[in-house]
Amino acid sequence: MKSRKNQAVGVFDSGVGGLTVVKSIRKHLPDEDIIYFGDTARVPYGNKSRETVKRFSREIIDFLIGRGVKIVVAACNTASSLAVPSIKKEYSVPVLGVIDSGVRIAARVSKSGRIGVIGTDSTVRSRAYDSALKKCDPSCTLFSRSCPLFVSLVENRFSRDPVTRAIAERYLKYFDGKHIDTLILGCTHYPILKTAIHDIMKKVILVDSATGVAQSVAIMLDNAGLRAAKRKRAARIQCFVSDDPTGFKKAANIFLKEEFDVKKTVVG
Ligand code: DGL
Repeated sequence: MKSRKNQAVGVFDSGVGGLTVVKSIRKHLPDEDIIYFGDTARVPYGNKSRETVKRFSREIIDFLIGRGVKIVVAACNTASSLAVPSIKKEYSVPVLGVIDSGVRIAARVSKSGRIGVIGTDSTVRSRAYDSALKKCDPSCTLFSRSCPLFVSLVENRFSRDPVTRAIAERYLKYFDGKHIDTLILGCTHYPILKTAIHDIMKKVILVDSATGVAQSVAIMLDNAGLRAAKRKRAARIQCFVSDDPTGFKKAANIFLKEEFDVKKTVVG
């Protein structure tokens, strides 16, 4: 029987994008084994209803808890916005989303208190970032814009293509005259477009919630006395996906330059 400290950290996403969060957890918590679930059969979540995203999230969390994880991280911003706040209380294992950590960093680094967020349609419509920012620092003002094409551009390896620049210019034009000094990248895929976004919004600080969530996981594990001890072997990543693993393995290269085991499994 594994001691609780040595149990893995569970991470899930609608697909491959959550590997940006895995990468950050790897960097900040190198001794933690990770079990990742990518719901590749049902991606995207970004245009789905709250009820559907809640059902999918519950099925995945049950699966990860069944594999013995000590904490679950919803890397997906859409699941973090639509599902985590209400379903986390159903579990004895901590369930953490990415919204609060992104908001906390943004509120800390912003000097003007005028903050932007970009995300999927469902994330923006949920107003989860608005509520989180209001709770964190009510003196800040949030401006939100959905950028639905960004996910496909990343997954089709268009992150450096001129077409991405043109689409990004169109989406980000919304922020003209809003005088934001900080922009939260509120979607798993957007950190891959950091360079393109930065080229357009040169003076704006880009906040990647993946970085913040690794710190939140560390704090939560430390508070619960659950941080893994230093390992002699390298920590493992085990991946499960709900569709054929071939596409996932190829796309995973964009997010995480590391070899790992990927198995197909059915949840729900
Ligand atoms: N993982 C989703 C998110 O962070 C993006 C992809 C999707 O729409 O499922 O919101």
